[in-house]
Amino acid sequence: MAEEPFRTIIEPFRIHSVEPMRLTTRAERAAALSRAGYNLFELRAEDVLIDLLTDSGTGAMSAEQWAGVQRGNEAYAGSPSFERFRAAVTGLFPFRQILPTHQGRAAEKILFTVTGGPGRVIPNNTHFDTTRANIEFTGAQAVDLPSPEGLQPALRHPFKGNMDVAALRELLAGSGAHVPLVMLTVTNNSGGGQPVSLANIRAVREACDRYGKPLFLDACRFAENAWFIKTREPGYADVPVAEIVRQMAALADGMTMSAKKDPLANIGGWLALNDDSLAEQCRNLEILTEGFPTYGGLAGRDLEAIAQGLNECIDDSYLRYRVRSIAYLGEALESAGVPVVVPFGGHAVFIDARALLAHLDPLQYPGQALACALYTEGGVRACEIGTVMFGLQPDGTEVPAAMDLVRLAVPRRTYTQSHLDYVIEAVTRVASRAARLPGMRIVSQPRQLRHFTARFAPLH
Ligand SMILES: Cc1ncc(COP(=O)(O)O)c(C=O)c1O
Repeated sequence: MAEEPFRTIIEPFRIHSVEPMRLTTRAERAAALSRAGYNLFELRAEDVLIDLLTDSGTGAMSAEQWAGVQRGNEAYAGSPSFERFRAAVTGLFPFRQILPTHQGRAAEKILFTVTGGPGRVIPNNTHFDTTRANIEFTGAQAVDLPSPEGLQPALRHPFKGNMDVAALRELLAGSGAHVPLVMLTVTNNSGGGQPVSLANIRAVREACDRYGKPLFLDACRFAENAWFIKTREPGYADVPVAEIVRQMAALADGMTMSAKKDPLANIGGWLALNDDSLAEQCRNLEILTEGFPTYGGLAGRDLEAIAQGLNECIDDSYLRYRVRSIAYLGEALESAGVPVVVPFGGHAVFIDARALLAHLDPLQYPGQALACALYTEGGVRACEIGTVMFGLQPDGTEVPAAMDLVRLAVPRRTYTQSHLDYVIEAVTRVASRAARLPGMRIVSQPRQLRHFTARFAPLH
């Protein structure tokens, strides 16, 4: 007799050790926010109750990962921990050259130092902030080519992270000589955590082949992306996630990776590629900035945690729970009338702050205003992904970003359903008085990646 499936999708793990959280009063939170210059990155983590600032490096490791930490071999060169790391990486991404790095942006820095430079143009579906900054730092131009569906927060489409392939062809036909490589971010974090279909990756690959360009994946959330392919793209329902990942990798020439996301580690990353001579240049830089290529800025124990995390993150029951918990949060907010990016992505729910705080101009930073209000209301820390993050141009001028979103990023295996219920309550309370929330102005800011350190003040 067939087993009757359960409606409730539970966390497929039980809690092994706990970390207390500190409740604060509204007055304490208001004071902390003011001290932080209304920049949530400047808050002390102990002053945050539920931390949805990022899903990066904030996940809970498994008992097997901690066992790997104990097994870590700290030899400077030729460590067996590196061999286990390399085997786990190439099992999913069979690239010839694997260069470990201390996190994703280090891989980006190395890749773009070699391939970028003034006059170069690097397209992506949507560059993440560090990717864009690392490209622009070399004097090159970072171009976003999201599909038109990806720019409409309320539009339902299974693969809103896709690249606009016609726009890519046009760019390559016009300025192909200036393009050293094409990037594709899976899932598309800045574009709302939306997945990219295998059909789109294949079409991007064809365009790259036509113009002789290598394709690199920014693959931080490859497992969540593969799960969406399995559950949404016709023909993949019965294909194992690991095999879908290998099909994604087979269409690319290389990748950058932050192991702080889907690989369930607290630190780490890598650059992988097939081009031996490009790899040699990258390896020379890696030695200069990260360390010897068998540890690349990581301890042997970190390499072990990543290797084990790679096995765990492609598990069907983990991915089903992971994607379902994001949808649970998103569906509750949507039914409470909060404008959210739909369908829900793999790691976060994105609130459309421009729609919710429609009384504010984008240059009054509706996303920042909303994120600050959420913290004051319930001690929930979220992240603005909008004009604060992307509005400052390399020439110092400011333009509204394509969207003003507030991202509620859910750390992996860290919070339970009742934590998410609390978040739903906090967001709903703030949404009910959204029309009265004041905008923000910037008091001081750096020239690059300003969202990390800028100071703000509310507009009264
Ligand atoms: C899509 C994407 N690319 C690159 C990075 C950078 O990775 P890291 O924070 O490990 O430097 C991130 C981090 O959030 C990301 O989401």
